[in-house]
Amino acid sequence: MAINKAHIIELPKVADPRGNLSFIQNSDQIPFDIKRAYWIYDVPGGMFRNGHAFCSQHEFIVALSGSFDIVLNDGNEERRIHMSRSYYGLYVPPMTWREIVNFSTNSVAMVLSSTLYDEDDYIRDFEQFKKLCNNEK
Ligand code: TYD
Repeated sequence: MAINKAHIIELPKVADPRGNLSFIQNSDQIPFDIKRAYWIYDVPGGMFRNGHAFCSQHEFIVALSGSFDIVLNDGNEERRIHMSRSYYGLYVPPMTWREIVNFSTNSVAMVLSSTLYDEDDYIRDFEQFKKLCNNEK
């Protein structure tokens, strides 16, 4: 199930007294080639983002600043992951419902995606998502 395939990936961390540095290089750290990056920031208190699944795109989500929780759902089971460091990220496979909630002040969620933006790849209705998941079994 997609929810079990989602996992935290630790990134290289070059510790330095001048400040730490982490990086992602195509295919080396994450299990897909990066086609697109976007980031979510200036989130007002109490708001949540995402709230959808993708048919085919893979994503990798990093808390570049601050913290937030990612709530994953595979149509049956829910899992909540707290993100608070910029040297690891969460790999989210296709057909995983996700919400990003509980943003701290000044947090930044960076998302790397395996595809270009494609509205047709979104599943925005949770009931439809559950039906699709159960048909797949
Ligand atoms: P969306 O992914 O729907 O964000 P959320 O699920 O958190 O509400 O994106 C919001 C809008 O931003 C969407 O209507 C289209 C636009 N958008 C792009 O144009 N390109 C992108 O890469 C992304 C992620 C969004």
